[in-house]
Amino acid sequence: MSIIRADFEKMNVNKIRKAKGNKKLTVITAYDALFAKLFEEMADMILVGDSLNMSFAGKKDTLSATLEQMIYHTNAVCTGAPKAFVILDMPFGSYINKDQALSNAVKVYQECPAAAIKIEGGEDRAYIIEHLCKNSIAVMAHIGLMPQYVRSEGGYKVRGKTQKDIDQLIKDALAVEKAGAFCIVIEGVLSEAAKKISQAVSIPTIGIGAGKDTDGQVLVWSDMMGFFEDFKPKFVRHYLDGANLVKEALNNFVNDVQNESFPSKKEEY
Ligand code: KIV
Repeated sequence: MSIIRADFEKMNVNKIRKAKGNKKLTVITAYDALFAKLFEEMADMILVGDSLNMSFAGKKDTLSATLEQMIYHTNAVCTGAPKAFVILDMPFGSYINKDQALSNAVKVYQECPAAAIKIEGGEDRAYIIEHLCKNSIAVMAHIGLMPQYVRSEGGYKVRGKTQKDIDQLIKDALAVEKAGAFCIVIEGVLSEAAKKISQAVSIPTIGIGAGKDTDGQVLVWSDMMGFFEDFKPKFVRHYLDGANLVKEALNNFVNDVQNESFPSKKEEY
């Protein structure tokens, strides 16, 4: 049986902007062609997140991902899912000022067919987003808990716990909207605060660990499919028992080889 989403339509920045208030958007990460093909006509957007440095490369944070790696994986995702709206997550250190950000974003557009890029930062980075948007780069912003700040912040801190912080997050969202971002990821923010941020802007907000009142949701594919076993963040829902299914399948293969039931006559040339 092949599962299809009858209402799937190829997205672009205009359709994404117009979705606000009309339909909830779904975003899933992917890092390779195989899974991107499976996700292609399901989610509205595919994010090649720098989370690949953790879930794919096994590192303890996202900071050592490089632009070359992000371009490599985005090319793989775009090849597997040509109908998808694919976003490349700009890695740490690739947008430290507006000129470097633009030259790296141009490199991205020239070397892979990504529809957009994502950068972390609010009011502090709005001038970079503005420069990118003025130069025809589509930018998804990312505010709240920003994984690329983990070392400078001393850990992953849930945001929006004080009125002062909520006010700052709203300023961040308004600044990136004014700068030209077409949507905003809000990560690790108390749900009441995320609701206020979403109401303050006219572009869609995509939440991760930000409650149900954002305009859409994003999850890292290996988290939602239950492949990552070390811990389960509170905001993750497992839609598959991936790790156990894989282990069970591999265990069956090992047993079949050992008891010589694989390969069978039918599986021989
Ligand atoms: O890198 C990533 O996968 C992300 C999402 C968690 C939003 O930035």
